[in-house]
Amino acid sequence: MAVRAESPRSGTVHGDGAHGASSPPGVACPPSQVLGRAAPAYAGPVATVDLAAVRAAAAALEGVVARTPVERSRVLSELVGDEVWLKCENLQRAGSFKIRGAFTRLSRLSPEERARGVVAASAGNHAQGVALAARELGIKATVFMPADAALPKLAATRDYGAEVVLGGASLDEIIPRAHELAERTGATFIHPFDHADVVAGQGSLGLEILEQVPDVRTILVPLGGGGLAAGMVAALREAAPRVQVVGVQAEKVAAYPTSFARGRPVAVEVARTMADGIAVGCPGEVPFDILSAARTPVRTVTEEDLSRALLLMIERAKMLVEPSGAAGVAALLADPGGLAGPVVVVLSGGNVDPLVLMRILRHGMTAAGRYLGLHIRIADRPGGLAALLGDIAEAGANVMHVSHVRTSSDLAVDEVDVDVRIETKGPEHCGEVVDRLRTAGYAVRVD
Ligand SMILES: Cc1ncc(COP(=O)(O)O)c(C=O)c1O
Repeated sequence: MAVRAESPRSGTVHGDGAHGASSPPGVACPPSQVLGRAAPAYAGPVATVDLAAVRAAAAALEGVVARTPVERSRVLSELVGDEVWLKCENLQRAGSFKIRGAFTRLSRLSPEERARGVVAASAGNHAQGVALAARELGIKATVFMPADAALPKLAATRDYGAEVVLGGASLDEIIPRAHELAERTGATFIHPFDHADVVAGQGSLGLEILEQVPDVRTILVPLGGGGLAAGMVAALREAAPRVQVVGVQAEKVAAYPTSFARGRPVAVEVARTMADGIAVGCPGEVPFDILSAARTPVRTVTEEDLSRALLLMIERAKMLVEPSGAAGVAALLADPGGLAGPVVVVLSGGNVDPLVLMRILRHGMTAAGRYLGLHIRIADRPGGLAALLGDIAEAGANVMHVSHVRTSSDLAVDEVDVDVRIETKGPEHCGEVVDRLRTAGYAVRVD
């Protein structure tokens, strides 16, 4: 069974599904700040999770979490050359898998602990997961959120009944405040991933996948601190050893490959990535021990892979997924080879601020070669620009932005440069548009 203690050597959260906090790269993760205790150096596994622990968590979650659907993805199946299924945890209650771990952790608190309430620090899905789990169990929750937390996440956390304490620039700043409140009031600090009960709860997702796709061979799962991947590995290494769980991290914040190489959780710098949910600077110790023992492979994805994945999910699968939640799809787009099928890709969350979504989709359209920037020199005479725009329209492209530039030193007096940004149907179409304009006699320079 799971050991129910939070790892005594960990507790510093470097990200949580929110903005990662900074920590010196390449060094062992800082010692525990939990309740201000000093912590001994890393000394091997402290707590583990097994199939029985995950089964117990899954039983307690029945009726609490939704059994989210799995949908076959035709486009990804064609890409991989085998069956690919999407596990739609973006449709889970509170918009991500986080309710699984949060509910499991909270439901195992003693009556005295429940009466004292819980505290969390998060800007993202953990905040909503804890708030909803606390409401289900009638426990008071206080959630510290950074001042710039996205409004929809803030509103949802409040709507679930949590008291939200807003302020601070980053998780670095708010985690100590959450610990301080826990110490002062006796409330329990709920770690987003580094606790055996949280890991066991997340693992229920693995068992659900096994029921829904019994012949699954590979599961791609977004990887941050490691709670989700570790829970699934803990369950499946016993229940279905043939299944390979593959973790996916954002290339910009990939703490696991370095940590595996060093044999211990090692902090990496937390660079900006659109996948804020998996931007965790240091693996949790409970998850690290499980994932390293199982030699879990980890792939990394670029920002372009992520935005293309998001776009593909919206356009082709009609799925609204947040960047972290689409990391598995991004990994398939980046490299569809080398995976045994059937493959299940976990869409781990769907909470994305509409404004951020707009920016990411634009990024995804660019990454997918759907935008084209051109500089075209034309004669400066009435109707010149109209003729150019007509030619672009005939090529089937949509003009999004046009500007006249008359400042180039090499322009003749009767010439003008036109900068156009156009929307195309994809990379091939971009080439066709340029060829067509050149054939029509324009001097075209591609951005
Ligand atoms: C959408 C999403 N996917 C994946 C993760 C990573 O989970 P873990 O930290 O348990 O690895 C998170 C963490 O918050 C998340 O919000």
